[in-house]
Amino acid sequence: MNGSGLDVQLGRRYRFAASHRLHRADLSEAENARLYGKCNNPHGHGHNYVLETVWAGDVDPETGMIANPADIDAFVDRQVLQVFDQVSLNEDVPEFANTVPTTENVCMDIFRRLKTFPGAKLKRVRVEETSNNSFEYTGTDNMGEPESLNAVRGEQSL
Ligand code: NI
Repeated sequence: MNGSGLDVQLGRRYRFAASHRLHRADLSEAENARLYGKCNNPHGHGHNYVLETVWAGDVDPETGMIANPADIDAFVDRQVLQVFDQVSLNEDVPEFANTVPTTENVCMDIFRRLKTFPGAKLKRVRVEETSNNSFEYTGTDNMGEPESLNAVRGEQSL
């Protein structure tokens, strides 16, 4: 896919702060408490998330760059940071009105928001929720095939 035959990738890191509550409306209070523990606290809780994005593409011989980081920053700001920073994921992000905002689901949602960037190919998204938890998504299933959006969106994932 790289015209020069060289596999060079560009990484860019961002931060956002948001709150969430892990809760499924179709389960009882007791079932939610058993499934999500403290993360089911009715008032939610916040995280300082770290978002890592990795991009690939040909190195432009004119600029020596895969893409201009300023263009990536502007895209990530518009597609993700303006939506996710300083909000309640459950209440303020429509995608999580009926989908539990676990960081697995946040990570996949961010990938879908960023994969349309015209200047480079999004290789993966990694989200750190805490210093002990991180999640990564490459837009493919575990056989390496690109995800089917309908299949993913059609179910309530835990
Ligand atoms: Ni949490």
